[in-house]
Amino acid sequence: MKILSAASEIYPLVKTGGLADVTGALPAALAEQGVEVTSLVPGYPAVMAALEKTAPFHAYADLFGGPAQLVRGRAHGMDIIAIDAPHLFDRPGNPYLGKDGKDWPDNAQRFAALGKAAADVAGGINPRFRADVLHCHDWQAALGPVFTRFLGGPKSVATVHNIAFQGQFPASVFAMLDLPQQAFAIDGVEYYGNVGYLKGGLATADAITTVSPTYAQEICTPEYGMGLDGLLRARRQVLRGIVNGIDTDLWDPERDPRIPARFGAKSLKQRTANKRALEARFKLEPGDGLLHGVVSRLTWQKGMDIFAASLDALVATGARLALLGAGETAIENAIFEASMRHPGRIGVIIGYDEDVSHLVQAGADTILVPSRFEPCGLTQLYGLRYGCVPLVARTGGLNDTVIDANDAALQSQVATGFQFSPVDEATLEHALSRAAECHADPKLWRGLQKRGMEQDVSWGRSAAAYAQLYRTLAKA
Ligand code: ADP
Ligand code: GLC
Repeated sequence: MKILSAASEIYPLVKTGGLADVTGALPAALAEQGVEVTSLVPGYPAVMAALEKTAPFHAYADLFGGPAQLVRGRAHGMDIIAIDAPHLFDRPGNPYLGKDGKDWPDNAQRFAALGKAAADVAGGINPRFRADVLHCHDWQAALGPVFTRFLGGPKSVATVHNIAFQGQFPASVFAMLDLPQQAFAIDGVEYYGNVGYLKGGLATADAITTVSPTYAQEICTPEYGMGLDGLLRARRQVLRGIVNGIDTDLWDPERDPRIPARFGAKSLKQRTANKRALEARFKLEPGDGLLHGVVSRLTWQKGMDIFAASLDALVATGARLALLGAGETAIENAIFEASMRHPGRIGVIIGYDEDVSHLVQAGADTILVPSRFEPCGLTQLYGLRYGCVPLVARTGGLNDTVIDANDAALQSQVATGFQFSPVDEATLEHALSRAAECHADPKLWRGLQKRGMEQDVSWGRSAAAYAQLYRTLAKA
């Protein structure tokens, strides 16, 4: 079984969020299911630099505005086909945004190229490779199923990692796609008179998945569907939620080279050394009291505006905070100001740092994820694995992966963290107080940590679910 996975990010070559973690970890997990994955990615500078053992795969005289080559190679154990199209992808930094922080003006061309190349490669444009199923992730790759549906190709899967990002462009973009006119319609890319890349993918894919069962239900409602709920309700029979796993080799507290002290469920005491290192890194007063952690994009989705407004209350519970994140300026500023009001109690690093993200999970007592919506969320899964107790909003994948420490769950010893709902200051502050109370009882807290560490957060079960889905599609 051969799969072509198309996505705009793949860890460790290019990452802005959880999408990269998923596309980077799934190939190895699927290999164990007998599924061979080749990953198609835009040839950003970091991708081209990482490719080894390269061989030309296909040449385009013109791919949306210039000549391009598809180059096949290996990187970090993965089989990669890169779209070497300098006019579209030879730009440093963030894959979507220019230096001014705005979307590149030619993103319609850039990600049309990804969708087109996906359909071409999967369909056997080079006879040495043909995919049994094309798997496209998020709006950037979502034209893949549109091209295979209207121009021919294998069965396709479209996966929604975040329905808030849809790739909508003016109707004039349609001509450039070179699709038959009937593709500009309700069961194609037409979306309220415009061109919608994700909309097109969801209308044409043979199967739709999203990254948790709860989010699969949520996106069928107007509250979460962001305009696509009607289409998703109509296609409910082909939509399912498959919860993300994590790369348990990369995120392994017993072997993680990025943390000062390695530990397991039976050696939780070793975490103290990580806590000390975390305090030093974030310029916090040292101490054994409750230390909350955050690793997050600082955005409205993540509830970080509400969180910023609750920081005085967090400190009032006696706790401290180590926060690593970057995002919206207003939120960054509000958090930074709180750290000035509470030196030694609130430590903030504004920026993106893989190493520090591991240290937070290994040294903090909790990982806070107060998202307004969360398709899956990976940081709470890293937290579970690292004995860093998740305190999360009850939504999407957070709902599916954390068991709230209510009285019944504590009594039956199944609790793994804290959930709260709705996402507002009062409810969040109440959850912070509950966590502080539980943390004051070391035995109870250790129970939460250990049970979290016992959860199966690997890709095993979910990779099997994808493999099963591919097999069903390939047979149909
Ligand atoms: P999303 O993809 O919506 O941002 P996820 O929880 O699925 O949320 O994935 C976020 C990923 O990005 C995790 O691997 C997390 O550790 C990482 N991450 C987020 N912010 C930072 C940061 N400032 N520094 C390092 N890693 C970060
Ligand atoms: C998106 C979602 C996040 C999910 C990730 C990987 O970035 O916001 O919840 O974990 O994709 O699927």
